[in-house]
Amino acid sequence: MNLTIFRNYDALSAFTADEMIRLLQTKPDAVICMASGSTPKDCCRYFVQKVLSEKIDISQFFFVGLDEWVGLPPALPGSCHYDFKTRLFDPLKMPPTQYHLFNGMATDLQSECKKMDSVITEKGGIDLMIVGIGMNGHIGFNEPGVDFNLLSHVIDLDETTITVGLKKYFTEPVTLKKGITLGLGTLMAAKKVILMASGLTKANVIQQAVEGPITNTFPASIIQQHPEGKIWVDEDAASKVVKK
Ligand code: GLP
Repeated sequence: MNLTIFRNYDALSAFTADEMIRLLQTKPDAVICMASGSTPKDCCRYFVQKVLSEKIDISQFFFVGLDEWVGLPPALPGSCHYDFKTRLFDPLKMPPTQYHLFNGMATDLQSECKKMDSVITEKGGIDLMIVGIGMNGHIGFNEPGVDFNLLSHVIDLDETTITVGLKKYFTEPVTLKKGITLGLGTLMAAKKVILMASGLTKANVIQQAVEGPITNTFPASIIQQHPEGKIWVDEDAASKVVKK
């Protein structure tokens, strides 16, 4: 595992977008999985800008969504689906054959999990996973206490996740109870993982992810065990890390 500290959110976002481009230039049919939420927003913006301005061929690229709130319609602003559609699929005109997301409205969520796992297997696994970190140390919706070996699964959301989620992502009233997410077993099987974080609010959780014990009570600590696990943060998010 290694920590890279960028000057600010903009530098972090531009470099991460370049990492996606570099991968697609060496492996045009790469499978990239990404989190939604605030952190990867500008990385998506830079990625789209570069793909369009440099006319990079992304016709073989395949995208996988990390997680989704259960019970929310895909068109609802704040849903993960909405983030990916507005940030990537629409601006890049990506057809549905080039991505797979969890359907949080599915009546059979178990088969939704199985479908996701088989899509990933059929595509040959995930080449690059770009994830964020929650205020309780979650990755995707792998909440504290999660089994490190799980693949896709449905999980009861932690109180912190519900409180932060309601405040941060939704402008209209929604009920957040469960999440559907790729598991940490999937993360460990990915060829490379980048955990991105920015801002002072993430300083404590980044210190714990980088320097704390590896434990499922703080799921993001698993990144220390990944042979290609990287933590890319800005100076504010790194401000509490002791050994820089
Ligand atoms: C959310 C999502 C994660 C996301 C994390 C951090 O609840 N489930 O996939 O990475 O929390 O989000 P943000 O980047 O908005 O801080």
